[in-house]
Amino acid sequence: MNIPLRPASELFGSITVPGDKSISHRALILNALAQGSAIIDGFTPNADCLSTIGCLQALGVEIEQNGNHVRLRSPGWSGLRSPINPLDCGNSGTSMRLLAGVAAGISGVTVLDGDRSLRTRPMNRVLEPLASMGALVSGRAQGTLAPISIRGASLQPFNGQINVPSAQVKSAILIAALAAGGVSRLEERVATRDHTEIMLAEMGVVIDRESMGDGHTIFIEPNLGLHPVDLTVSGDLSAAAYWLVAGSLAKNAEIQLPNVGINPTRSGVIEILENMGAKIVQRNFRIVKGESVSDLVVQSARLHGTKITGSLIPRSIDELPVIAVAASMANGITEIRDAEELRVKESDRIAAVAAMLRSFGASVDILQDGLRIFGNEKLQGAKIDSHGDHRVAMSAAIAALFANGESLLDDKDVVQVSYPLFWEDMASITGR
Ligand code: S3P
Repeated sequence: MNIPLRPASELFGSITVPGDKSISHRALILNALAQGSAIIDGFTPNADCLSTIGCLQALGVEIEQNGNHVRLRSPGWSGLRSPINPLDCGNSGTSMRLLAGVAAGISGVTVLDGDRSLRTRPMNRVLEPLASMGALVSGRAQGTLAPISIRGASLQPFNGQINVPSAQVKSAILIAALAAGGVSRLEERVATRDHTEIMLAEMGVVIDRESMGDGHTIFIEPNLGLHPVDLTVSGDLSAAAYWLVAGSLAKNAEIQLPNVGINPTRSGVIEILENMGAKIVQRNFRIVKGESVSDLVVQSARLHGTKITGSLIPRSIDELPVIAVAASMANGITEIRDAEELRVKESDRIAAVAAMLRSFGASVDILQDGLRIFGNEKLQGAKIDSHGDHRVAMSAAIAALFANGESLLDDKDVVQVSYPLFWEDMASITGR
């Protein structure tokens, strides 16, 4: 169903953003590897995390989810059984890739499948390292695409470079490494989000890291006796990013965003917006179960163009679509480079974001590895194609707040993938 979007120049209020999606997946999957019970609070029942819950239940984990509260009880990794049916990961790349790591340690065959978008996304990046550890893997299109199948085996430690800068691939290897016959060593050329490492350390795993340029070498000992951890998931910075951009672009705005995760491997969006001139205040910094958390406040500002490259890219990868929206209204040119990974997300986000911005009348060049955005545009109300991608849709909704006249977005429900209450939160700050 489509949804009309009207402009707004004043944005005031407080938004409690949904629980972090990356941390929620890990809280479910890593606790499923531990024998015993765990309680997860601050959980957001978005479609991606519900896919993970469905898959884990099919592997034999008991999970009761009631609103933001989840109770999980697992027989531990050795008690998980290979499922009768293919596991349905829906739209969720994180579910498929992390669960591939789990499947490598389960005897029997596990088949993982997903929706049309997930079936187009590269899976060889996770199957190849798991095969190098001894798992028997296959996939459609010469082992590159889902459905994929994994037969667990007795695994050797991983020793080498991670082929792509991807936290999902790194996490799959780290998970499989728990079941390996010795210490694994993973070289990560560019640092990616480290929620898996933080949570594994909380669960009693011996995991160390040595810095290496923009990345790390990670050493992880095998461990089939993880301790379950109870945790309260902090707010998702990737969701807060929409309001950080909206508050910065509005003529008159102050938006409070309490309890947002600002893990340094994820906080590129704050750094980038500040480089562009944004006014973002961080208060009450605290560490919760190893994760950095703050209360954020954003006020209106005058933004200017910037250059986003190199190690900043993995630290802001999911926020680049909404940063592109900020760039289209900032003073001067913004260049996003080294961001080829955007082409293999829920949509080709280089093409989809360029098309979305152009539909509002913005000037954008498509580069092989990113975008060049010519700022200072007065956007015009548009008919927007979300390309079935939640982040393209929400970014477009932020652009529409500042366009001349009404816009129409093709799919209201696509936000369910990560942010079910997006439209309600939008209404709360526009006063409509
Ligand atoms: C995620 C890692 C990122 C990100 C995705 C969630 C995770 O993907 O884009 O939305 O939870 O590990 P890659 O690490 O594959 O780039």
